[in-house]
Amino acid sequence: MKTVLALTGASGTIYGIRLLRALADRQVHVDLIVSARAVEVIRHEQGLELSLDRFDVERLLGQAAETVTFHHPADLFAPPASGSAHYDGMAIVPCSMGTLGRVAAGVADDLITRSADVFLKERRKLILAPRETPLSAIHLDNLTRLSAAGATILPCMPSFYTHPQTVEDLVDTVVGRILDHLGVEHQLLPRWGEAS
Ligand SMILES: Cc1cc2nc3c(=O)[nH]c(=O)nc-3n(C[C@H](O)[C@H](O)[C@H](O)COP(=O)(O)O)c2cc1C
Repeated sequence: MKTVLALTGASGTIYGIRLLRALADRQVHVDLIVSARAVEVIRHEQGLELSLDRFDVERLLGQAAETVTFHHPADLFAPPASGSAHYDGMAIVPCSMGTLGRVAAGVADDLITRSADVFLKERRKLILAPRETPLSAIHLDNLTRLSAAGATILPCMPSFYTHPQTVEDLVDTVVGRILDHLGVEHQLLPRWGEAS
């Protein structure tokens, strides 16, 4: 299985990092793209110093990352930029309103927005996990537009009915749903109606 995962500069970088770890743990091949703003937000939220020019995936994950390939967001020659490359899905987690707006407007000016544009035109699975509150009419219009174009809008909106005990448990209530939509088996969450 092969996916594209992009991290952008919304709050909640922990969602993208835990998703990347979950995919790596399951030997899913990931083409990883991180925006310049996401690097800054990761530094602020996670206390992790990373550089786009010498990106250290193992430092981001805190573990080995053999199945992860990093691409610079300015590299439009990377495989996800082309519809001829095969992937099972793409997720942008967290997805800033800036990236969301550019994708909704068809502005494909870096590898993240170009890849999302390609996934939409090829009618492939594209999951956007926005994080913002409150939402303006512009945000809501963009979300509606993207949903109509075939994207799955899966907000970073944790749930509480599984009684999460830690921040990581809470984050995994979202990460588990993204894995479900990518078609990746997991047991991050108890399933409603099944004995835990
Ligand atoms: C600490 C911090 C937190 C931010 N949180 C959000 C957020 O939750 N949602 C959002 O849409 N933008 C947020 N932003 C603003 C984005 O980083 C900004 O719009 C940026 O241009 C997004 O760039 P990108 O989409 O290329 O990553 C935040 C910025 C900073 C510095």
